[in-house]
Amino acid sequence: MTRPSVLFVCLGNICRSPMAEGALRKASHDAGIAIDVDSAGTGDWHIGRPPDPRAQLVAREHGIDIAGYRARQVTPHDFLRFDHILALDLQNLRDLKVIAPAREQSRLELLMDLVPGREGTAVADPYFGDEDDFRTAWNDVVRASAFLIERLAR
Ligand code: 4NP
Repeated sequence: MTRPSVLFVCLGNICRSPMAEGALRKASHDAGIAIDVDSAGTGDWHIGRPPDPRAQLVAREHGIDIAGYRARQVTPHDFLRFDHILALDLQNLRDLKVIAPAREQSRLELLMDLVPGREGTAVADPYFGDEDDFRTAWNDVVRASAFLIERLAR
């Protein structure tokens, strides 16, 4: 079996999707399941930048170092590289649908659709918030990662 691949996509690739990447890397390691994990943003403002210091802080609170990640912009080619492309919010999902090649739309999902009771909801953008908003986003991506691991392990 080839290892599954997962791409998380938010707006800037400096807050939510790097936290999701860090959370899934840790969860896959703990579960002993090999998964290729990456993250990207729909926007181009932060290309090449490390995650927001608050995202790094919250990940570090959970023993995860995301300081070495660098932001990049999602491309249509990502739909050929990744089995699963997970949008962090509904605007990210709409933006991804526009660039997804028609026959690859099925790879695309809203991340919180993986969490029973949270279908159709967003991982709220913490960028204009405070550290607790980052902790809320962290909790969301950790929960979703657990369901994703369960699905990929089947
Ligand atoms: P992210 O957060 O999409 O979770 O990385 C944001 C980062 C930057 C901006 C907005 C959201 N921004 O407006 O620059």
